[in-house]
Amino acid sequence: MTTTHRKSPTTLPRLLGGLDAAEGLTALDRHVGFHGALPVQADPGRPDPILIESVRASGLGGRGGANFPVARKIDAVLAQRGRPIVLINATEGEPPSRKDHVLMRGAPHLVLDGAVVCAAMVGAHEALIALEAGSRREFAALDHALAEREQRHVDGRLKILLETVPDGFVIGEERALINALNGGPGKPTFAPPRPFQKGIGGAPTLVQNAETAAQLALIARHGAEWFRGLGTAAEPGSALVTLTGAVANPGVYEIPLGAALDDLLAAAGGLAAPVRAYLIGGYFGTWIDAAHAPGLRLTNADLARLGGGLGARAIIALPARACGLTETARVARWLSEQSAGQCGPCVHGLDAIAGAMELLARGDGRQLPDLARWLQMVPGRGACRHPDGSAKLIASALEVFGDEVRRHTIDRKCTGDGTPVLPIPASTTTGRPR
Ligand SMILES: Cc1cc2nc3c(=O)[nH]c(=O)nc-3n(C[C@H](O)[C@H](O)[C@H](O)COP(=O)(O)O)c2cc1C
Ligand code: SF4
Repeated sequence: MTTTHRKSPTTLPRLLGGLDAAEGLTALDRHVGFHGALPVQADPGRPDPILIESVRASGLGGRGGANFPVARKIDAVLAQRGRPIVLINATEGEPPSRKDHVLMRGAPHLVLDGAVVCAAMVGAHEALIALEAGSRREFAALDHALAEREQRHVDGRLKILLETVPDGFVIGEERALINALNGGPGKPTFAPPRPFQKGIGGAPTLVQNAETAAQLALIARHGAEWFRGLGTAAEPGSALVTLTGAVANPGVYEIPLGAALDDLLAAAGGLAAPVRAYLIGGYFGTWIDAAHAPGLRLTNADLARLGGGLGARAIIALPARACGLTETARVARWLSEQSAGQCGPCVHGLDAIAGAMELLARGDGRQLPDLARWLQMVPGRGACRHPDGSAKLIASALEVFGDEVRRHTIDRKCTGDGTPVLPIPASTTTGRPR
């Protein structure tokens, strides 16, 4: 790795820079003109220790939802025997999230550069980028970018391959994804072995989210100190957020971690209607009462005080005209249908929970005591965190919409106007990951 940092934007946008033009940075020349050339090449079989230390110093956490430190994953991969492989998880099956799609369409070279940086860190010979079959425009953008790079021999001996997997929510879980890419069903396997031990073709596999890869592409150019120039000491850098619901301009925004929710809302043109609550973290996230919004900072640490976290950083502003219980019941049903159907507590538990939520939304509180019990029973009982994330969302709804629970069950009244707010993909409402 060279230490030349060609250009050092200390303000935003970083990842989204250059994307306001019609074609964004889809062409290699425009990408290099804006970001500068990537000062790193993968040297298969030879991990790059300087690059690894730079990423360690940056404190980058994975942007796919769990915020797991990237450097620790690299250490884990390098501690294994065998030739490592890189897998960029570009599935983004979370319905309210669009950040990875926006990146892949507008800045495909940044994601590809990130795959190169991952490969350089672990000395991989091969990097796979996995997308859902339905992500056709994103596939086309990456495919075009890859062809340009191959023509100009940009990535040396590193082989970069695009792969598609069936659409679905749980297939984005890394073991389900690897299982599908290995020719099996897109269902999580029971751990261990974990991907860093045995992943693609049995090789130690470094799995990083598409945005994480793009962040790495910038860290390789500008260094750890630059990266830490935004964000907080514990949660450094910028991050992409998909903001939807009752805001004037819904879309994908780049924020410094630790930004105030108020500032994000202002950047989106403000609220389009009075808001009852915010769903923060996507469908594994938590509802936060709008009363907590003023002054709320967007970090995992700040949200943890309210029982939440940033998750995949999809934020939905729920308008006061909507019923939080009805909305959560719709998502609960969808989440239960997304179960990969192999762990009893997940299959039966989530179905029962969704049924109880549907009853509640219709004003029937008969199953409320059972619901509270089931929500405590399912977490930690599946091969993946699907039941945990689903239960967390529903438990937060019962807490934040406590007044609605009383209104539904005692007054038999739902004040929602019935117009759905939270997105549910039409094509997968009855389907499990195929
Ligand atoms: C049910 C489920 C769905 C997931 N879906 C995605 C996804 O769509 N994209 C993603 O990057 N990570 C997803 N993850 C997280 C991945 O398992 C994995 O942690 C991530 O890709 C690692 O990348 P990161 O460390 O860069 O965030 C999902 C996890 C679970 C439990
Ligand atoms: S916990 Fe649910 S989604 Fe996860 S592997 Fe088991 S059945 Fe599938």
